[in-house]
Amino acid sequence: MATIAPVVGITVNSGLEGVVAAETSISLVDGQAGRLLYRGYEIGDLAAHGSYDRVVALLLDGEWPARDQPLPVANLTPAVLGALRNLPTSAAPLDALRTGVSAFGAERRMGYPPSADQARELIALGPAVVGAFARLRDGKEPVDIAEAAHLGVAGRLLYAISGEEPDPAKARALDAYFTVCAEHGLNASTFTARVITSTQSDLASAVCGAVGALKGRLHGGAPSEVRDQLTQIGDVEHAEQWIREALARGERLMGFGHRIYKTMDPRAAALRQVAERLAADAAWLQLAIDVEDVALRLLAEHKPERALKTNVEYYASIVLDGVGLLTDLYTPAFAVARTAGWTAHALEQSAQGRLIRPDALYVGPDQRPLPAAA
Ligand code: ACO
Repeated sequence: MATIAPVVGITVNSGLEGVVAAETSISLVDGQAGRLLYRGYEIGDLAAHGSYDRVVALLLDGEWPARDQPLPVANLTPAVLGALRNLPTSAAPLDALRTGVSAFGAERRMGYPPSADQARELIALGPAVVGAFARLRDGKEPVDIAEAAHLGVAGRLLYAISGEEPDPAKARALDAYFTVCAEHGLNASTFTARVITSTQSDLASAVCGAVGALKGRLHGGAPSEVRDQLTQIGDVEHAEQWIREALARGERLMGFGHRIYKTMDPRAAALRQVAERLAADAAWLQLAIDVEDVALRLLAEHKPERALKTNVEYYASIVLDGVGLLTDLYTPAFAVARTAGWTAHALEQSAQGRLIRPDALYVGPDQRPLPAAA
């Protein structure tokens, strides 16, 4: 019988760290220096002086647009609305977003290769879908998103949820959050979108797959857990004991650590400023700032060999809470914002046109006979 030859000289890298799987000109994620640039522009500048809808143009088209123009509105089609109405009200809003994008893709039959116009449509669809589901589960009818065409994509999300013109300070804060979350190199969900595109599948399928990858707590699912963590700590006096006990149980502190950044995540620094400007709940923000100091000190003690610093999710949770989103809408908001990065990468991938297909090292049993039927 044939036996499987041992494989010599192959190293398995199950987390793919250090593997370069694409060339990109969309963003630079500099983990050593703690820098994030979108097509050369620094994230702090973009969050303070840009707008999300302009960043979408930058990511999709390559250059900073001369004018700040909101994206065209994407109305809910009957297929999307029907799919959302058919979901149980207990469904996770992120699953509702994935379902809405899937129904939209089934109706549109987008085809290959993807285009920047398709990308704009999918980005603009997000607020309408998330807002409609948030209302339907509360027994309310969705509002007409076209009434909010004057707002940017982030402001439209607030409008689609509440049915009211959003407070300008909250819309601005959410817009800065969207800017900060729009793109981040070859993270797990973006890689998923590129893998799907590399098979010459359509853009809606790439976004559906990316939403699925974002859902996990090691990627996009952390900000609501940051909130739970701060709620449990409750007071900075309890922080040291609470954190020591959590680390002793082998738990991870939510909002800390990153695969790439060995310094503070530059997005966390930008979002802390957004949270300070929004000043929605000064005591809550102060608790976060104080707990962060304790957590950084104890993480340095706990893992001196790893640089475990604050990541984007930490202050994202303060901003999203400050603009009034319910915790189960945090990750959907992240997904709507990140649709810009996913689709920009899908466009880049389709231009490169190479199927992504790594190998696996087989470690199962040798060839063997099928057991005789009983
Ligand atoms: N708290 C406590 N310990 C941690 C943390 C943390 N937040 N992060 C990493 N560690 C420890 C791990 O337990 C591990 O210890 P070990 O070597 O004894 O097993 C070591 O540091 C290395 O951890 P890895 O999982 O190998 O690091 P990786 O690069 O894969 O993880 C990740 C990055 C997933 C973000 C991790 O830091 C984490 O789980 N953080 C908490 C969850 C979180 O904040 N997620 C949001 C990430 S940001 C984003 O995706 C948008």
